[in-house]
Amino acid sequence: MTKDTSVLLDEKRLFKPNYKIVEEAHVKNWEAEIEKGKDLEKYWSEKAEQFEWFEKWDKVLDESKKPFYKWFTNGKINLAYNAVDRWISTDKRNQVAILYTNERGDEKKLTYYELYREVNKMANALKNLGIKKGDTVSMYLPMCPELLISMLACTKIGAVHSVVYSGLSVGAFVERMNDADAKVLITADGTFRRGKIIDLKKIVDESILQCPTIETVVVVRHTGNPINVSELSGREILYDRLVEGESGECPVEEMDSEDPLFILYTSGSTGKPKGVLHTTAGYMVGVATTLKNVFDIHNGDLWWCTADIGWITGHSYLIYGPLLLGTTTLVYEGAPDYPDPGAWWKIVEKYGVTKLYTAPTAIRHLMRYGSKYPNMYNLSSLKILGSVGEPINPEAWMWFYKNIGKEKIPIMDTWWQTETGMHMISPIPVSPLKPGTATLPLPGIDADVVDEKGNSVPLGKGGYLVIKKPWPAMFRTLYNDEERFINVYWKEIPGGVYRAGDLARKDEDGYIWIQGRSDDVLNIAGHRVGSAEVESAFVSHPAVVESAVIGKSDPIKGEVIKAFLILKEGYKLNTTLIEDLKKHIRYELGPVAVIGDIEQLDALPKTRSGKIMRRILRAQEMGEDLGDTSTLEE
Ligand code: WT7
Repeated sequence: MTKDTSVLLDEKRLFKPNYKIVEEAHVKNWEAEIEKGKDLEKYWSEKAEQFEWFEKWDKVLDESKKPFYKWFTNGKINLAYNAVDRWISTDKRNQVAILYTNERGDEKKLTYYELYREVNKMANALKNLGIKKGDTVSMYLPMCPELLISMLACTKIGAVHSVVYSGLSVGAFVERMNDADAKVLITADGTFRRGKIIDLKKIVDESILQCPTIETVVVVRHTGNPINVSELSGREILYDRLVEGESGECPVEEMDSEDPLFILYTSGSTGKPKGVLHTTAGYMVGVATTLKNVFDIHNGDLWWCTADIGWITGHSYLIYGPLLLGTTTLVYEGAPDYPDPGAWWKIVEKYGVTKLYTAPTAIRHLMRYGSKYPNMYNLSSLKILGSVGEPINPEAWMWFYKNIGKEKIPIMDTWWQTETGMHMISPIPVSPLKPGTATLPLPGIDADVVDEKGNSVPLGKGGYLVIKKPWPAMFRTLYNDEERFINVYWKEIPGGVYRAGDLARKDEDGYIWIQGRSDDVLNIAGHRVGSAEVESAFVSHPAVVESAVIGKSDPIKGEVIKAFLILKEGYKLNTTLIEDLKKHIRYELGPVAVIGDIEQLDALPKTRSGKIMRRILRAQEMGEDLGDTSTLEE
């Protein structure tokens, strides 16, 4: 899929920061910082000094078992300790750490000290449930304080968390739960969405029999939705009851730098989701450093990342990054346009948000309502804006810049992935910007655009995006699937480089323009959805024999699903069946898998060995030349 978003609006201006931005910035000289980043070990070890270590590392980077890189070897550290405990002996003790609000206007604030106590209580409670260092705890929760508390509680005692996005449904949920071997699952009675309550416990109830590893289900009372919690079974317990009477103090587990921190599932080219595994110290260093530099975090900032915690953006830049820097992080539960399309701007005004990090799909969505809503609110507290998840088309960039930033503040278009853990290609506030590009690799990051042999392609030419040197927050493996880790990311392009799975080109200034995925992964509203996962969900419907799925461009969501189906004899694709298929996919995968179009075919284009050629379907759909069809079966 090569959708070059840069051609839609011809915006050739270069946007430079004003003096105020430069004056305030931690990093004023971009080139010098990039120069410093060339000495990887020196650069990253300096950044690691910001934390409290129980024991210092002996080697910054161990490359002896490539691509199984190790960072800060033999160091001893704890993330939760550095994100929470460390601050309570400073003047941040009574500063708000988490500011939760939702579409109903409810509000809950936790200071660093209060958060510390809540984390400790939950950590003690998890231990009482038998959770030990190295065990996995899963969470299927809305954007609520208990989710952050539970994640930090795991981190404090060395348990590995695996958060499943609450917008995923039964099929996707079961698969992730079982792959992660989760012992405890934490869920809630529901989540607020557009004036309704979505019942999460119901999805858990429908899935749990297929999840044999789960011993206990903890249920957060969040919405007041009446649900059935069968405490007598000994398998389910309310969160409040679980932590009741627990001590607000809990000893911290000294973790090795390379001890697992979390597993987070993402989609790949096959039907099986990838369990991306991140470890402790390198992740901390990478995330804190990039957040500080890219969004220029200072005391007094109110940071708002609109991503769901169920995705990597939420992990790295809603919870861990901001708390590691001692910032206040705003957690918002609800849709951007409910109760009206001014909902977000109202929050910016009410709380005085200083840095806002969001996604192109949300901007395009809100853009439809024009400038009326942002103009109703005072947005002058904002200092820096950010974008992540897909290429931001210049129209959306300009709208964001004008209507939200009032042409005064820069937009950080950050390119990175679940696998990279941290920002990789991104401007910093003092960089000259061009709408539609994430600009240059950050200091310490060696990114390039190459051909299939691994040679750099000339400027302006398209190729594969690769990362040539290791970085601290890089994922260490795919959980339970080392072979796939090596084959998918490190083998296809020669030279031992990391293949990101994106197509890109570099312009005359070396700025990198991302042009979409090079594999069969769709990007729907900034969420990764694997074609194969959708195809197997279709095939599990009684009417479907075979299916092929491609991305179809969509003005708001970027891409939606176009499905080609072969139906069982006797079935016809009428409106009733289409509705039923949509319901089925929603049940299996959740609302992230947005169906744009379904078409019935008599046969699918396949290679002689039987592989579906999605490329042919894509070309046909876009009215393009079919390309090389020599391997196509008759
Ligand atoms: C894929 C990674 C990283 C957090 C959100 C998504 C696309 C992400 C950008 C950007 C162009 C982008 C890429 C990448 N992507 N950010 N700023 N410009 N494309 O994480 O689910 O792991 O998806 O999202 O295609 O490979 P993810």
